[in-house]
Amino acid sequence: MRLTGPRLDGRVAVVTGAGRGLGRRIAEAFTAQGCRVVAASRSVEQLKDWAEAHPGRAAAVAADVRDPEAMDALMRTARERFDGLDIVVANAGVSRPGPAAVLAPEAWDEVMGTNLGGVVNCTRAAVPHLEESPAGRIINLSSVLAARPVRGAAAYCASKAAVEAYTKVCALELAAKGITVNCLAPGFIDEGMGRELRANEAVWAHYRTKLAGGRMGTGDEVASAAVFLAGGESDYVNGHVLEVNGGVSW
Ligand SMILES: NC(=O)c1ccc[n+]([C@@H]2O[C@H](COP(=O)([O-])OP(=O)(O)OC[C@H]3O[C@@H](n4cnc5c(N)ncnc54)[C@H](OP(=O)(O)O)[C@@H]3O)[C@@H](O)[C@H]2O)c1
Repeated sequence: MRLTGPRLDGRVAVVTGAGRGLGRRIAEAFTAQGCRVVAASRSVEQLKDWAEAHPGRAAAVAADVRDPEAMDALMRTARERFDGLDIVVANAGVSRPGPAAVLAPEAWDEVMGTNLGGVVNCTRAAVPHLEESPAGRIINLSSVLAARPVRGAAAYCASKAAVEAYTKVCALELAAKGITVNCLAPGFIDEGMGRELRANEAVWAHYRTKLAGGRMGTGDEVASAAVFLAGGESDYVNGHVLEVNGGVSW
């Protein structure tokens, strides 16, 4: 499929965790590229202004990604509201830091249930709709920490590594249905969780030395990569982990 004009013209997307942070930037970038977007978050209050600013092209839905039935309803809403579903960005994520040996079971369950379980629930709910699209796309948010473990982030690193493995299996299984499945793996971004990390001076002093360009990325730089993975230019990109990290190493 080759697209002309706005890169996502005529397409319909669902973005989870779009109330703030990177999900919000991705939803904004998609609408700017002509896409109709259903943005989900547990609280939709933060999405109301954005949805009202794009009448007929944006909708806000309250949905917890840990709830499989809520994900079924979310995908159906996109289908019914905008007459189809082409792109799903499974972006909702949480982090609960703490040493692995004493990490509370509730913290582990919340991170795995949201970061991995949310991706699984989105995939299961979306595939029956995406297989009717001429070019279905699933984009799962991972992190550079999936492949670069750090102390104090056992649940987060494990959840994102699992998302990458899950994504690669789905890519193999869903290619025959015309659906590509890729990961978008941000590095240290001055938005959302990354901004919170920078607010801790001791932690940021450690990580800033790991960035080749000496700066954090922006939410818009991550959103541009999401537009690429959602659009016609990435037709032959499948089962890939696209890191957007400005050159990070340790
Ligand atoms: N920012 C970074 O530097 C960075 C780097 C690497 C990877 N990432 C990944 O990028 C994604 C977005 O992160 P962010 O930094 O933008 O985080 P954020 O600002 O904390 O936003 C997370 C979003 O997820 C939603 N969410 C959380 N739990 C949810 C649930 N159970 N069901 C539905 N929505 C839920 C939150 O909204 P509600 O609380 O209103 O539901 C919020 O909109 C995550 O997967 C994260 O792991 C971020």
